[in-house]
Amino acid sequence: MGTGTWAVQTVTDAVMTWHYDVEHPELRALYEKAKREQWNATTQLPWGQDVDPEGIILDDDINPHVALLRDSDIWRRMTPKEQTRLRYETLTWNLSQFLHGEQLAIFVASQLTSAVPWIDAKLYGATQVVDEARHAEVFYRYIHEKLGQEYPLSDTTKGLFEMILHESRWDLKYLGLQVVLEGLALGLFSRMYQAAQEPLLRELFHFVRQDEARHFAFGVLSLRDIYRDALSEAERHEREDYAFELCAVLRGRTYPKEAWETIGLPVDACRKAMGDAARRSQMQLSSFTRVTSALKTIGLLGERMRPHYAQIGLLKYEDTPLEELEAVGAAS
Ligand SMILES: [Fe+2]
Ligand SMILES: [Fe+2]
Repeated sequence: MGTGTWAVQTVTDAVMTWHYDVEHPELRALYEKAKREQWNATTQLPWGQDVDPEGIILDDDINPHVALLRDSDIWRRMTPKEQTRLRYETLTWNLSQFLHGEQLAIFVASQLTSAVPWIDAKLYGATQVVDEARHAEVFYRYIHEKLGQEYPLSDTTKGLFEMILHESRWDLKYLGLQVVLEGLALGLFSRMYQAAQEPLLRELFHFVRQDEARHFAFGVLSLRDIYRDALSEAERHEREDYAFELCAVLRGRTYPKEAWETIGLPVDACRKAMGDAARRSQMQLSSFTRVTSALKTIGLLGERMRPHYAQIGLLKYEDTPLEELEAVGAAS
C-alpha cells in the first residue's frame, strides 16, 4: 500500500438492460423510499454543537471497547486520565474504520449498480451510492472537526475489504456487502446510536442507520429471489461458505489494535481480556442479530451450515424479525 492511496485490482462485469419496465416491484418501492428519505448532512446535522473530545461521548456500559475491558487488571491499573485516553483513541479508531468502510461501500455499491441485470436494482443502487458518499462525508467531518485525529485502515479490517473487493461474481459481492456487512453495520450503528451521549454523534447515527436499513433490505430482497430456485447445490454451498467465512472474520478478528498500540497497551493481553469478557456477556454478538436471520431468508442457512453458526454463537438469531423488509411491505 503506497502512501495516500491503495490501488486494488478488482473485476466485475457490467451489464446493460433494455427492459425498463418495473419487474421487481419491491425494489422499485425501495427506490421510492430512498428518494423520500434523502437528507443533507450539511444542513440537517447540528454541526455547531461543541464536542469535548475528552468528555464521555459514548456510554461506557454500551461501548464495547470500555465495557469489555472494565473487568480486567489492564483497566484497573489505568489512571482515570489513561482511561479517558483509551475512550478517545478507541472512538477515533472506530469512527475511522467506519469512514474507510463507507468508502468501500461507495465503491462496491457502484460496481453492483453496473453489474446487476435489473433496472429496478440499478435505479435503487444509484441512490445507495449517494447514501454511502454522505456517510463518508459525515464520519470524516465528525472525526476531523470534533475529534481531531484519524486512524488509517486497520490491519484487522483490511482482510475483510480484500475478501469483498477480490470477489468478481456480482451476486457474491452483493452477499458480502449488502447482506453480511450491511446487516452488521445496521447492528453496530444501532448500538452506537444507543451508546451516544453526545447529541451530534447521536443524531448522525440516527440518520446513517436509517439509510443502512434500506441497503440491507435491498440485499436481502435481491438475493432472496435469485437464490430461491436458481442455484445448483454446488453453487449454493459456495455461497454458504463465503457468507460464513465473512461472519467468522467479522465475529472475532476486528479489534482496535492500533488504538491500543498508540496508548502503549499490550495488544495480546487486551485482546484476550476483551475476548473473555465478550464470551461471558455475549455483548458483541448482539450486532449480528439480523445477519443469521437474513441468511436464512435467502436460503443460505442449510443443515450443513447450522452447526458452524451454532459454534460461533450466531444460530440463535435465525428467526430475528427483519423489520427493514416490512417497511417496504416485502416481509414473507
Ligand atoms: Fe453506509
Ligand atoms: Fe450501506
